[in-house]
Amino acid sequence: MLNQNLRKEYPNENHQFNLNQEVDVSKLQEDFQQNGYIKYKASEVDINSKLTIFNEFRELEKDPFSPSNTQRFRRYGNALILPWEKQKNPIWLPTTITDDGRELSGYDQGNNNPEHGSIRYFNALSDDVKSSKYLNSIIIEDYNLTFGLNDYYLPIYVGIHFVKLTSTCDQSLGISSPDCFHQDGEPFTFAHLLYRSNNIVGGENYIAHPNERNKRLDDVNNENIYSQFTLKNISDSFAVHDSSVCHYVSPIKKINNDQVDLLGERWMILIDYSLTKQKI
Ligand SMILES: [Fe+2]
Repeated sequence: MLNQNLRKEYPNENHQFNLNQEVDVSKLQEDFQQNGYIKYKASEVDINSKLTIFNEFRELEKDPFSPSNTQRFRRYGNALILPWEKQKNPIWLPTTITDDGRELSGYDQGNNNPEHGSIRYFNALSDDVKSSKYLNSIIIEDYNLTFGLNDYYLPIYVGIHFVKLTSTCDQSLGISSPDCFHQDGEPFTFAHLLYRSNNIVGGENYIAHPNERNKRLDDVNNENIYSQFTLKNISDSFAVHDSSVCHYVSPIKKINNDQVDLLGERWMILIDYSLTKQKI
């Protein structure tokens, strides 16, 4: 009885689709539309793309907008998808070059991040990773799971974030932004785990009713949490329809008695989709 009471059952907890198996994409999309989020396993990463992507994660620069205690590293890239094309491919947008020759890509989250009010320029994803087979195919694969975008008459904007959190000890947390339940602003966001070291705790994902927006985990109404899960293996993924839910990921923390002195790490690829607009 005690166990039953302690273990809260959330809907869809065991509902795991695997896009490597012959999964009916339209069934997954239907679930997405109905529940406002999905949990699934994305396609397997081919070996060449994996080398390129892992290399990119090792080289990520510190997020210049993160407080010094957060241990967050990231790069960003942006692209367009033309919904009317039969054979869709991401069209990568050009980067901005700084005076000292660095390439940056701009990210504007509007008013949706209480920690950041205006456009942020991040270090740009490398040309190598932007031409990798897996990244290009997963951008289209994710797009095909969205709904309501494909009839749009203008290009769809795609934001691609590589985000790494690290923790060196149980005093140093790797913290995502914002550190509360939130909505991102973009209509759809997909999150794919690339690597999680086995010497960390935390990095737990929560999906909740939109009313919980801007609340910390301790303040959230438990009945409004739809799902709680931890992405553990490569390609473990989830997606949110932003207006239907809010979401949160807890900080990662390295386990103190780790025998080998290795960094605690969690590597994520986040892909978001928004409508574009004609400005007159
Ligand atoms: Fe988010």
